[in-house]
Amino acid sequence: MPPEDLRSAAPRIAPTFADNVVAWQRSHGRSELPWQNTRDPYRVWLSEVMLQQTQVSTVLGYFARFLDRFPTVQALAGGTEDEVFALWSGLGYYSRARNMHRCAQEVLSRFGGEFPRTAAELQTLPGIGRSTAAAIAAFCFGERVAILDGNVKRVLSRVLGFDGDLASAAQERALWNEATELLPPASAPNAIGYYTQGLMDLGATVCLPRKPSCIICPVADVCEARKEGAPEKYPVKTRKLRRTAQSLWMLNARDSQGRVWLEKRPARGIWAGLYCLPVFESRTALLDELAPADRLSARDEAGFVHALTHKDLHLHPISVVCSEVHVATAGGWFDDREWPALGMPAPVRKLLSVV
Ligand code: ADE
Repeated sequence: MPPEDLRSAAPRIAPTFADNVVAWQRSHGRSELPWQNTRDPYRVWLSEVMLQQTQVSTVLGYFARFLDRFPTVQALAGGTEDEVFALWSGLGYYSRARNMHRCAQEVLSRFGGEFPRTAAELQTLPGIGRSTAAAIAAFCFGERVAILDGNVKRVLSRVLGFDGDLASAAQERALWNEATELLPPASAPNAIGYYTQGLMDLGATVCLPRKPSCIICPVADVCEARKEGAPEKYPVKTRKLRRTAQSLWMLNARDSQGRVWLEKRPARGIWAGLYCLPVFESRTALLDELAPADRLSARDEAGFVHALTHKDLHLHPISVVCSEVHVATAGGWFDDREWPALGMPAPVRKLLSVV
């Protein structure tokens, strides 16, 4: 008898797993989200990109506003990057917005305005990774391909008892292979959409990171992690992000009409391309930018912490009323009707809203 391959549990689990996920999705999964019940790749793509790092409850409003302004991929391609940023403002991870705009333009220039129909081709577009490409291809075109976003990694590593370290690219590839083995059979062509959504729904509502609800899980009977008694142990990922902290001083300059001075951030680095208060690495550097007369009116406002993925930003606003000549940075004055329409980092928007 060949030695048992301990790592690959998929063949043993496969026969019932996909059926159970599909049946559970149909009866207990989410079915009324605005990006469901459509095969329009534009809507599905938009939702998948928004959902990459953001919760469903937050995405709902952004999704509706985005579609209102840009109902088609053609409309999006014809919009300006600033408009796209404005609609994205507050969602974070702005490279997603920039890539969406570029992606829309490539759908027009490379594919005649129609999204390609295979995961392999979808993956060649900006901002569409392997899992997002697979989700679009499965939902819209019924392609039999595996997804593996963060939630699904958790579900599958638990079901399979996959203890490879997902910080390693080779182990991640191995899990992709297992995910592919678990797909519903080609003989059930309508199953892939339900299956894909079912895995997402299980990850979001049942197979939670800390307190999984195994008692209501439709695949508990085949779940290796459950048998072992410690599902929270999975997924295994060793590389821990070390959080850093940085202090930034922000110049909140107003002119005599109460307009605020904003500048567009450079194309690279933090808040790339967004409109922002001028940012400095020290209080002195900020004050040095001001005319001597303006410096006299500088006031330190209450500081606050804004958490990015890898970093806590300690933000220190300093407000100034400027004489008729401005601050020395490159930017412009915006009044209270103008600035709310600009794409800007969430903490800056918050700051301007309360002042
Ligand atoms: N997260 C990623 N894709 C999703 C989807 N289609 N529905 C709900 N949550 C998701």
